[in-house]
Amino acid sequence: MIIDNDTETTAALIKLVGDIFGPAPTPLHRPVFEGNERAYLVDTIDSNFVSSVGARVTEFEDRIAEFTGCARAIATMNGTAALHMAQLVAGVRAGDEVISQALTFVATCNAISYIGARPVFVDVDRDTMSMSPAALRRWLKENTRRDGADTVNRRTGARIAACVPMHTFGLPGRIAEIADICDEFGITLVEDAAESLGSYVGPRHTGKFGKLATLSFNGNKIITTGGGGMIVTDDHALADRAKHLTTTAKVPHAWEFVHDEVGYNYRLPNLNAALGCAQMEKLPAMLTIKADIAARYRAFCAEHGLHFVDPIDGTTANFWLNAVRLKDRNARDTFLEYTNARGVMTRPIWALMCDLKAFADCQTDGLETSRWLADRIVNLPSSVPESEFHRLAT
Ligand SMILES: Cc1ncc(COP(=O)(O)O)c(C=O)c1O
Repeated sequence: MIIDNDTETTAALIKLVGDIFGPAPTPLHRPVFEGNERAYLVDTIDSNFVSSVGARVTEFEDRIAEFTGCARAIATMNGTAALHMAQLVAGVRAGDEVISQALTFVATCNAISYIGARPVFVDVDRDTMSMSPAALRRWLKENTRRDGADTVNRRTGARIAACVPMHTFGLPGRIAEIADICDEFGITLVEDAAESLGSYVGPRHTGKFGKLATLSFNGNKIITTGGGGMIVTDDHALADRAKHLTTTAKVPHAWEFVHDEVGYNYRLPNLNAALGCAQMEKLPAMLTIKADIAARYRAFCAEHGLHFVDPIDGTTANFWLNAVRLKDRNARDTFLEYTNARGVMTRPIWALMCDLKAFADCQTDGLETSRWLADRIVNLPSSVPESEFHRLAT
């Protein structure tokens, strides 16, 4: 059911935002440091290990591996670097093509371009706002041919080296179906799980379906290290390669400086990892609080005839950013103007990647649903409210 968001409803929503988060201005998502962040930072400074070597980096990796159920985790200085490295170790090379979604944050596609590969954009599903398995299969069937073990784009002759779907706002996509299609076509699956730490398909954490997956700990994410990212995988050889490449490809030696290929200085500093260790201690509580906020928005939307975007059956979202789907672009813009003018930060979903200059010439499947959603989706304030801080501080 989608009913116009009249001014009365929007005003009532602003009141609800005030009840949850306190008086405006209300940010979209702010970080919370109510645990051991300060103590761990001071310890790290005192240890002198403030840079890319240090116990906290390893500890943070271990915590993420344990939480996601992945065998290995490799910390990077941000999620974009993690995406770049994950695709490189997955075998993406210059001249290849990588299938992704146009409805995503630009980092997904930037990382493809860093390698000299080109994105191809297939549509998303209306409910998950993440890559549609049906659209993926249709595009592959209509546009590619097999060449030995490879799948090749008939129009460009380029190899389809990888598929990079993204779990939008922490709502899990239909990733098991996508994994099956990738298997069938011999395409490596790399999940952009930047937004979905704490989101599951059944009992399985998002990021466990791809050969590799990546996370982000940017300041706006569910937990933050200031800036930071992670590659997760069950493949030890790929994990070793990612660790090597992200640490300047240095060959271990007590004093010699031997770097056996061009590497990257992408490792997460110990200072940032210290923040991450403290944040991980609070993640379960954060997830509970976020589910509570989502429940309040859901109840409001049900009462007022607004469409609250919920995870699909069989999945659990982290409710990193809550979203409503409005009637049309006009309703969206009216809503954005009204709320932002009153100090309640709301934001539209991203512009489609193929509408950005850098990706304007990329092949697409028409992206009908992506465009439909881009006209209608708005994010609501979703931070942990001040009133809940005591639940995190204890
Ligand atoms: C979907 C998605 N991919 C990748 C990134 C990149 O992460 P970072 O900002 O840590 O580089 C982000 C977030 O910023 C994101 O939302």
